[in-house]
Amino acid sequence: LTRELVLIIPAEDSRCRVLIGRGLRRELGRLLAGEGFPPPVFVIADGRVAGLYEEAVAQSLSAAGFAPTFLTIPPGERSKSWPQVRRLTRELLERGAHRKSLLVALGGGVTGDVAGLVASLYMRGLPLVQVPTSLLAMVDAAIGGKTAINLPEGKNLLGTFHHPRLVLIDPEFLRTLPPREFLNGWAEVLKAGFIRNAALVRELAGSGREIWGDEEKLTSIIAQAVRIKADIVARDAREAGLRRLLNFGHTLGHALEAASRFRLPHGRGVALGMLAALRLSESLTGLPPEDSQMGRNLIQSFGYTRNLPRLNREEVLAALSRDKKRHDTGVAMVLLKHLGEAVVVEEAPVARVAALLDEILAPPARP
Ligand SMILES: NC(=O)c1ccc[n+]([C@@H]2O[C@H](COP(=O)([O-])OP(=O)(O)OC[C@H]3O[C@@H](n4cnc5c(N)ncnc54)[C@H](O)[C@@H]3O)[C@@H](O)[C@H]2O)c1
Repeated sequence: LTRELVLIIPAEDSRCRVLIGRGLRRELGRLLAGEGFPPPVFVIADGRVAGLYEEAVAQSLSAAGFAPTFLTIPPGERSKSWPQVRRLTRELLERGAHRKSLLVALGGGVTGDVAGLVASLYMRGLPLVQVPTSLLAMVDAAIGGKTAINLPEGKNLLGTFHHPRLVLIDPEFLRTLPPREFLNGWAEVLKAGFIRNAALVRELAGSGREIWGDEEKLTSIIAQAVRIKADIVARDAREAGLRRLLNFGHTLGHALEAASRFRLPHGRGVALGMLAALRLSESLTGLPPEDSQMGRNLIQSFGYTRNLPRLNREEVLAALSRDKKRHDTGVAMVLLKHLGEAVVVEEAPVARVAALLDEILAPPARP
């Protein structure tokens, strides 16, 4: 059973097919065959993902006559760097890539961001296909056309918009994903539900972590999360308005990550940010307390709040005010009116956020 959605971005004059189905990685060659891309096809993957999946993906591409060439980057956020982009583009040149060559990004969000940037820059732009292998990349990074690398001064400061022609999501990749990475992705799935789909929140609250072991259910949940992101991106390709809602939990989440010097995984930062946003929504945007409670229980059931590293409240607040979303008298935050309905509050009082931090960062009371 393959689910398909077509993401049309009128402003960019681009059309992106998103296919979601178990085992789809074996169909990659066949799916690309009709599109007329010349061989060789170039696949960028990180070393870990290449070790696990290069053979299967190469086989599928070779069988369709694509003579794939694999280029790898070291796994991890540090590969989102200018030296990697330069190295990859020079390797592409050396191996004869030209203006019509297809680039495939096989991996998590790091690979997708780097390969996407390379695809948008090399000879003014190559066609791109995203094959996300982490949950986070499936429901978030591979959808929406943003590419980026980091600078010493901050994350994602150098980037472009470059939409893939095709996003191929095979949830079977997740069988080898470490639990910690799974959790990073779940935070974005929960976020999608909170801002746009109350039924998804209720479904997740009803089944909890059992879903991890149920690939068919997981596939359906991924499809729902993808649809939410795709729908928002289609209406706001360049982040003029609606797309800001995707920052739910992220303003405070980034500040928490920064204050932990990035020891706190992204997903936990976002999860804690969503806890605070749910509480704040009760008083600022009228979210019914029972819905807030249900959302917070759901977040907690994933274990995001267990064994938190020690975080200094003042450092979190300092990071919050360095965040570019900070305004003079408050901080812009995405809050909920209802489960599934989000709004941007431009000036959430920082003092209120500070008070909530004590509640969220306080070590759980010992009996
Ligand atoms: N472009 C966007 O719109 C967007 C959106 C959200 C996040 N991002 C970016 O995405 C990045 C985070 O993505 P991520 O969490 O996927 O990180 P990642 O790409 O580093 O992947 C996490 C780890 O999981 C491994 N991995 C990936 N798939 C695997 C699999 N199937 N089996 C085993 N191991 C696997 C990777 O090797 C890596 O070690 C960040 O840099 C973030 O800025 C971009």
